[in-house]
Amino acid sequence: MNTALIGLQWGDEGKGKIVDILSENCDYIVRYQGGNNAGHTVVVGDKEFIFHLIPSGILHKNKVCVIGNGVVIEPESLLEEIDYLAKSGISVNKNLKISALCHVIMPYHRILDKLRESKRSNKIGTTGRGIGPCYADKISRCGIRVVDLLNPRIFKEKLKDNIAEKNEIFQKVYNHPGFSFDEIYSKYLAYAKKISVFVADTATLLQQALKKNKCILFEGAQGTFLDIDFGTYPYVTSSNVTVGGVCNGAGITPKAIDMIIGVVKAYTTRVGEGPFPTEFDKGFCDFIRKKGKEFGATTGRPRRCGWFDAVLARHAINLSGVEEVAVTKLDVLDNLKEIFVCTAYKYKGKIFKYFPYDFEVLRNAKPVYRKFSGWNKTTSKIKKFGALPKNALNYLSALEGLISSRIKIVSVGSKREETIFR
Ligand code: GDP
Ligand code: IMO
Ligand code: MG
Repeated sequence: MNTALIGLQWGDEGKGKIVDILSENCDYIVRYQGGNNAGHTVVVGDKEFIFHLIPSGILHKNKVCVIGNGVVIEPESLLEEIDYLAKSGISVNKNLKISALCHVIMPYHRILDKLRESKRSNKIGTTGRGIGPCYADKISRCGIRVVDLLNPRIFKEKLKDNIAEKNEIFQKVYNHPGFSFDEIYSKYLAYAKKISVFVADTATLLQQALKKNKCILFEGAQGTFLDIDFGTYPYVTSSNVTVGGVCNGAGITPKAIDMIIGVVKAYTTRVGEGPFPTEFDKGFCDFIRKKGKEFGATTGRPRRCGWFDAVLARHAINLSGVEEVAVTKLDVLDNLKEIFVCTAYKYKGKIFKYFPYDFEVLRNAKPVYRKFSGWNKTTSKIKKFGALPKNALNYLSALEGLISSRIKIVSVGSKREETIFR
């Protein structure tokens, strides 16, 4: 069975933890969009791993981990991640496959990401990794792909054109000195040499796996409301996070996806700028952030925190056709007296039960809350769904009703064993 796993909020839902667990019973784990803006945490025993580009299934032996064509690759970051794993005794040599068609993040993408942010009046709060500019070049048809890096002649032609155009823009618009062709050319050829052993036609590889009835897990990065089409634009990332991204980003037919799992936190977080209707006030945000250790796995930035937003989750579930839901970080709500869930928005006296596309509505929407009693018990050691405190079961059952979906996994801690399967 092939499963797609999608974040249903603004990222950091705990996808890495759930992917790690599900990987045990899969043969292939595939990233299909995003880049090293992602930070997926997996905790095994006392050791914490954070993955940015390498699929979170890599900790299991003999799994093929694929970076699909829809991912943008920053070679230095990839090589650092490979070294970091090697230091923990994990070798990727046999198991990592990188699509030849991935677009490559170049130094000018990273710098442009930061320069554009510094000039914008409405800052996005990007991770500064060059993700947006790299995808922009892909769409503009001037991007450089992994396969281009592997051919020095083609790489030279493409880099020459890019440097010529970029240097003019950087100098004239951003008052930046620009880039040296020679420096980037030799640096990236050296990266290409190191990466070449992993490069493959991953779409064909996955199609062959499908023919052999292998089990594939597609690991989403970011979250539905960071999707370039359906997210809170322009405060989004530059790829398709929702399930449609799987087919384009991995080169498989939608018919190959048998199950779609959505991951949500028992509350909501967001890093970076943009509307967030259920955001806590500062005092309570600090409290939950500390309890939930809500700091970005990629940039270390403090995450904004708020109540569970059923309007968002419902919409995300419909957009990706989610069939089963994993709720994470329930333990973070353990000792609260009262818990609130947003069931609709209110703006100018009108009730919105569906996600509003009008930015003015979204920006000014006031949440309509339903109140729940807390459970005042520690849940981290609980192994069975039915053994959860009564008020926690009430809470989860109400969420199921509000999002019209079945909760199949409840996570009550960051470790593998702190997971309840229903
Ligand atoms: P991802 O980007 O969706 O993979 O999520 P991140 O790794 O960025 O952020 C999730 C954070 O929550 C990580 O630090 C995880 O170790 C942690 N985490 C995951 N599930 C749970 C849980 O059920 N309870 C607690 N307390 N922490 C969790
Ligand atoms: P994972 O996979 C949370 C956010 C950034 C910013 C916006 C655009 O760990 O869930 P970008 O650098 O992509 O152009 O930034 O998207 N963002 C994330 N927020 N989790 C992520 O990934 C994110 N990846 C990007 O903070 O608001
Ligand atoms: Mg993350």
